[in-house]
Amino acid sequence: MSKTNHAQWSSRFSFILAATGSAVGLGNIWKFPYMTGESGGAAFVLVYLLCIALIGLPILVTEWMLGRRGQSNPVNTMATVAEQAGKSRAWLLVGVAGVLGAFFILSFYSVIGGWSLYYTLGSVTGDFSGQDADGIGALFNGMLANPGLLLLWHSIFMLLVIGIVARGVTKGLEGAVNVLMPALALLLVILIGYGMTTGHFGQAVEFLFSPDWSKLNGETVLAALGHAFFTLSLGMGIMLAYGSYLGKEVNLIKTARTVVIMDTVIALGAGLAIFPIVFANDLDLASGPSLIFVTLPLAFGNMGGGTILGLMFFLLLTFAALTSAISLLEPVTEFLEERTPLSRAASAVVAGIGAWALGIAALLSFNDWSSLTLFGLGIFDLLDKLTSKFMLPLTGLGAIIFAAWVLDKDVVREELGLGANGFKLWNLVTRFVAPIGVLVVFFASL
Ligand code: PFF
Ligand code: NA
Repeated sequence: MSKTNHAQWSSRFSFILAATGSAVGLGNIWKFPYMTGESGGAAFVLVYLLCIALIGLPILVTEWMLGRRGQSNPVNTMATVAEQAGKSRAWLLVGVAGVLGAFFILSFYSVIGGWSLYYTLGSVTGDFSGQDADGIGALFNGMLANPGLLLLWHSIFMLLVIGIVARGVTKGLEGAVNVLMPALALLLVILIGYGMTTGHFGQAVEFLFSPDWSKLNGETVLAALGHAFFTLSLGMGIMLAYGSYLGKEVNLIKTARTVVIMDTVIALGAGLAIFPIVFANDLDLASGPSLIFVTLPLAFGNMGGGTILGLMFFLLLTFAALTSAISLLEPVTEFLEERTPLSRAASAVVAGIGAWALGIAALLSFNDWSSLTLFGLGIFDLLDKLTSKFMLPLTGLGAIIFAAWVLDKDVVREELGLGANGFKLWNLVTRFVAPIGVLVVFFASL
């Protein structure tokens, strides 16, 4: 029951840009490179690509298809589509889990977005210049130990996100991605260009593309699948919400292919920008989450042109985080807008403040509340694990099982515009390959 006419993307191109903006985020620039570094490189990359093709892409198409049929927020969409199919409205729980997942992720995603803003400023003011490893480490640990500083940058980041989402789908979301995505692409190209001048570009290419299978184990496969969900913004209502603003004329499979390819190319591109610097400066490949915030700044602070390269890198990271964070706020906002008397802008503000408040608990887990743990995890890690290990896979699984097993076959076939053979393949993948893949990995991770 929407109060106004449901918004629509202005064009297929705008939709691609917005969906790519959601997909390309901290996952690509921060997580993918450090996970690849930790997991030994190309073997991980290949498993990840397989997960993207066989599980990520079908679930992406499925979420868009459901969103487009529902033309509403994720909760109403699931209820409506289930009802139309003569099934129980209880399927709306998939939508609920999605909206909640997006809300939880936004809370800690914004904290990292704040780090990125802080480091952007830090590169301009020369905070990394001439620092040794200890100095750079102290900068990062000092930030984590300082709740006021974390709160400041978390708040600024969240304000930007709320400001964009409050303006609506065409003015806010499209307006932001129209500027930020081309800027992001340009920055990445320049940084890869720099990587080519280091003399270690070939080493980076080999690290990313020439597999050492001995490095592969169950945990790596698990991480690859989890990341396939995270990187495509699946299982959290985002693509359901983005699909709800989509017109009938858009070919979902083709569009998904474009978005998946762009997301993958940008993740690999981030690797091609980062690893030459890592190799050229003899840095630690397997430094994990601190790869971006400790390892790289060490290089930026001690090389010619490091100030400008550091600035470009952290701007890139910030832009990527911003276009993803707005997509995380969107499902919650759309839900409030359609289910409460609140206006669009008020919905964005209320949802954003809620996630901001939860984010404060997350950022305190690095300092004042560090002794507060559950299952041995602080609040930040708890939110991260709860969403990426449980909520995202289970919600994505719910969506694909619904579409593949419950929804009328002819409806799906018409939505996707598939011929007989294409539809057979689609059925095989969405009924068996993808759900079984998710389930195996899910239970293996428990
Ligand atoms: N997909 C984006 C990324 O790779 O960073 C952003 C994102 C959105 C990540 C939503 C996770 C998420 F739950
Ligand atoms: Na991504």
